[in-house]
Amino acid sequence: MFFNLFGFGDSIGIDLGTASVLVYVKGKGIVVREPSVVTIDRNTNEILAVGEEARKMIGKTPGNIAAVRPLREGVISDYDTTERMLKYFIQKAVGKNPFVKPTIAVCVPSVVTTVEKRAVEDATRQAGARRVFIIEEPIAAAIGAGIDISKACGSMVIDIGGGTTDIAVISLGGTVVSTSIKVAGDNFDDAIIKYMRKKHSLLIGERSAEELKMQVGTAYERTMPVTMDIKGRNLVTGLPKVVTVPSEEMHEALAEPVAQIVEAVHQVLEKTPPELAADIVDRGIVMTGGGSLLYGLDKLISESTHINTMIADDAISCVAIGTGKFIEYIDGSEERERRNKRRERRAENSRRIREKRAEKNKDDEE
Ligand SMILES: Nc1ncnc2c1ncn2[C@@H]1O[C@H](COP(=O)(O)OP(=O)(O)OP(=O)(O)O)[C@@H](O)[C@H]1O
Ligand SMILES: [Mg+2]
Repeated sequence: MFFNLFGFGDSIGIDLGTASVLVYVKGKGIVVREPSVVTIDRNTNEILAVGEEARKMIGKTPGNIAAVRPLREGVISDYDTTERMLKYFIQKAVGKNPFVKPTIAVCVPSVVTTVEKRAVEDATRQAGARRVFIIEEPIAAAIGAGIDISKACGSMVIDIGGGTTDIAVISLGGTVVSTSIKVAGDNFDDAIIKYMRKKHSLLIGERSAEELKMQVGTAYERTMPVTMDIKGRNLVTGLPKVVTVPSEEMHEALAEPVAQIVEAVHQVLEKTPPELAADIVDRGIVMTGGGSLLYGLDKLISESTHINTMIADDAISCVAIGTGKFIEYIDGSEERERRNKRRERRAENSRRIREKRAEKNKDDEE
C-alpha cells in the first residue's frame, strides 16, 4: 500500500505470445490467461473486444469488424493494437490507477532483432510500465520448467508456441546455442487446413483446424487410432459437409512442419559444445509451450535424437511462470540491496557517534 501510494505498483511478468497472453503478478501467480486477439471496428478504429471474447468472433465477423491477432509469428506485426491489447491485460491484472506504474518483465523469442525488442519495450512502457525488462523466451521457459539455469551444466529447452519454436542450450544463466524458427502451432493448423482442402475438398476454418490438431492430431503413430467429425464447406458443391477424420490422416497432414522442428533440434545439437551435449544426454530435453502438447511429438524427438525428451508440467504456463520468477528475483535482489545500504548507513552513523563520544571522553579527561 505504502509503495502503491508513491507509484511503485506491482511487479508483473508477461508472456506476450502469438497465441495467448499470460500475466503473472508477484505473490499471486498467473492472473490473466487469454488469447492474443483483438476485435476492432474498422470504421471508428475502436476496440470492441479483447482476449477470449474476441477469439469467439474469429471467422464470424461482418465486414466492418476485424478480428486481429497483432502478434504474428512471435513478433509485433501490428504495433498499435499490441499496445492497446497490453494496456487492457495490464489493467485487468493490476487494476486501473494512473498513479501506479508496475515494473514489467516481458519475454520475446530468442532471435528477435534489436528493433523488434525495442518495439516490445516501447509498447510495454506505453501501456503503463514504470520499468521494463526483456527476457528471452527459452530462458523464461527453462526457469518456469524448474531448471536451475545458473549451474555450469547444459540444458536443452524446446519451446513450441503458436508462431515460433525456440530451441536453446542454456548454461550459467545464458544461451550458448539457439535457434528460433517460424514453425509452430499455427503452422500445424495451416497444414491441416491445406490437407483437408486437398484430400476432402473441404474448407475448414482456423478454429476447426486447431480442434482437429488437439483431438486427433499426431506426430507419432498412435497405438489407439482415434477419429473426429469436422464440419466445413464442400468446395465442389459449396454446401456444408461433415467429414470423419482419422488420426492417421492428421499424421500425414502434420508430417512437414513436424519434420522442420525435428530438423532444427538436430541443427542445434550439432552446434552444441561436446561437454554441454554430454550434460543434455544425461539430463534429457525439456519441452514447453502449447505446441509441445501435440500428441507424440516428444516421442518423435526422443526417438530421432536418442535423448530422453519430456514435456514440462503445465507446459503452456512455463514461460509466464519463468518471467514472473525472474521479476520476483530482481525485486528480491533490489530489496536486498536497499536493505544492505540501510544497514551500511546505520553502521556508518553508529561509527560516527562512537567516534564523537570517544573524542568527547578524551576532551573531558584532558
Ligand atoms: N493439447 C494441445 N495439442 C496440440 N496443440 C496445442 C494443445 N494445446 C495448445 N496447443 C497449441 O499451442 C499453441 C499455443 O501455445 P502457446 O500458448 O505456448 O503459444 P504462444 O506462447 O502464445 O506463442 P509464441 O511463443 O509462438 O509467441 C497453439 O497453436 C495451440 O493450438
Ligand atoms: Mg510462447
